[in-house]
Amino acid sequence: MRPPTRARSDSKNRDRARIERLIDAASAARARAYAPYSRYAVGAAIETASGKVFAGCNVENASYGACLCAERNAVAQMVAAGESRPVACAVVTGGRSPGAPCGICRQVLSEFAKDLVVVLVAENPRGRARQETTLASLLPLAFRIEARSPRK
Ligand code: THU
Repeated sequence: MRPPTRARSDSKNRDRARIERLIDAASAARARAYAPYSRYAVGAAIETASGKVFAGCNVENASYGACLCAERNAVAQMVAAGESRPVACAVVTGGRSPGAPCGICRQVLSEFAKDLVVVLVAENPRGRARQETTLASLLPLAFRIEARSPRK
């Protein structure tokens, strides 16, 4: 096998650093989660094509159906800032193994990108267990309305 070129390994290191930054942002948001009912704190962070990062945490409610997931909170932060092109998303939970985004969050992410890198992280006293996947593999055949035609 050929040794990696300097340029290739530089770009790999940059990708790794971007993912670490995204996980750190999701972890910081997770620390602010409002989850008194489930006691399951989640943080999410989205990196957009412009390189900016938007983070959110889950926000629960006594009326359980009103609970907001961390991923959708991060999407709302992104949209409110005038951005709409996510390229990567980190989701941080506690526990031994990472939690994957729920179906609604997958659909909401897919509104803004056909595909993106999704990094799932469980942080616990032993460190960070992680799994890397993509939105396209988490949500194949996503529902979308490509073009609006006049109502019939
Ligand atoms: N939760 C998220 O924040 N993201 C998900 O993708 C799944 C679930 C939150 C919602 C609720 O506050 C808690 O986790 C337990 O379901």
